[in-house]
Amino acid sequence: MGDILDIIKSRRTIKHYLPKFVSWENVSRILDAARHAPSSGNIQNWKFIVIFEPEQKQALAKAAYEQYDIAMASVLIVVCAEPEKGERYYGMRGERLYTVQNCAAAIQNMLLEAHSLGIGTTWVGAFDEEEVKALCKIPEDIRPQALIAVGYSKEVPPKPPKYPLETVVYFHKWRNKARDPAKYMIDISTILARKAGNITQSLHGAAQSVVGKVKEKIVTTKEDSP
Ligand SMILES: Cc1cc2nc3c(=O)[nH]c(=O)nc-3n(C[C@H](O)[C@H](O)[C@H](O)COP(=O)(O)O)c2cc1C
Repeated sequence: MGDILDIIKSRRTIKHYLPKFVSWENVSRILDAARHAPSSGNIQNWKFIVIFEPEQKQALAKAAYEQYDIAMASVLIVVCAEPEKGERYYGMRGERLYTVQNCAAAIQNMLLEAHSLGIGTTWVGAFDEEEVKALCKIPEDIRPQALIAVGYSKEVPPKPPKYPLETVVYFHKWRNKARDPAKYMIDISTILARKAGNITQSLHGAAQSVVGKVKEKIVTTKEDSP
């Protein structure tokens, strides 16, 4: 896997995991990706609790409204925010908005790094916060933001539909769409260019093989002739 856009586009939320361990080397690479994420004023007001222990994973899966599939993942990472630090630096906006965004940026880095290593992830936001806090002995002033399941995927889930660029991008003002989106939207043009490239390649391959076969035929016909 190479291009970052290919990594971004092919990442999927994993639903089922294989009973296979992710090495500590890979887990630590994923955690390292998190700490390099952008954060408001670089305050890095996050902490990551890594859970390998099967009973604790099971209890966390239960706390996530019985999403038991995540307990099969090799590791769960509880992403914790330090809202007080956000508040100290940037007031209410820091506490309520930047803190959440900082953690989300760290999470996305983890998902992408894992995917680039061939490891699947699930970003789990639905859970009982108090239960998760109790299970991981998280202090009162810290908020668990997400549980990230990390493991080897049983299957590659189909890509869910994503809105095309032209429906989510406006120009200069709200609801102002491009008149000719195909002209501006790299998304569409890239897909078309790739498809055209693939067709050209397969036509070229087919033509080469026909030429090869005709050449063979000519040689054998010449050899056979008296
Ligand atoms: C804030 C947030 C919370 C989420 N919570 C859950 C969750 O509790 N359980 C789950 O299976 N997936 C959860 N997801 C994953 C989404 O369902 C998934 O990203 C979405 O369906 C798109 O699929 P994709 O990630 O394969 O593109 C969450 C994603 C985000 C960003």
